[in-house]
Amino acid sequence: MDEKTLEIFNDSFENCLSNRAFLPRFYELFTESSPEVGERFRQTDVLRQSKILKKSLYILTMATVGTDESRNELIRLGNSHGVQGMKIPAYLYDLWLVCLLRAVRECHTEWHPEIERSWRKMLGPHIAILKSFS
Ligand code: HEM
Repeated sequence: MDEKTLEIFNDSFENCLSNRAFLPRFYELFTESSPEVGERFRQTDVLRQSKILKKSLYILTMATVGTDESRNELIRLGNSHGVQGMKIPAYLYDLWLVCLLRAVRECHTEWHPEIERSWRKMLGPHIAILKSFS
């Protein structure tokens, strides 16, 4: 990953997480984006949803570092979400990213297009790995 992208992403990551609206806003957008998503998270309260998103973002960003541990964690998630587990279809991952980028756009102070580009570049390849388990 080039340094500029990493810097823009890290700043944005901190900026978004310091906004208390960010995590719940993502889940609001995501669960309203499709009845299938709403149904999957019917039993999951807001606090738990926020914790899951925080954990998700840490797993995806750590995967960029590329340690064995971070790779194994991604494979674990792929298995738990994929055909062997919750059977999450690939198109819902696209929706996940769309909703995340919308929440970033709404919650990041002084948003600009380079911010979105950095999130796509950082998370895209790892989301593609998760999708390959669908
Ligand atoms: C890049 C995308 C995603 C990441 C990184 C991710 C990550 C996670 C993580 C970390 C958990 C917590 C449990 C664990 O650690 O195994 C979780 C739970 C869950 N995820 Fe995902 N997820 C993603 C996409 C999706 C999508 C597209 C759906 C589709 C609806 C989904 C549905 C769920 C459900 C239903 C749970 C369990 C909720 C609960 O325990 O109440 N996830 N996910």
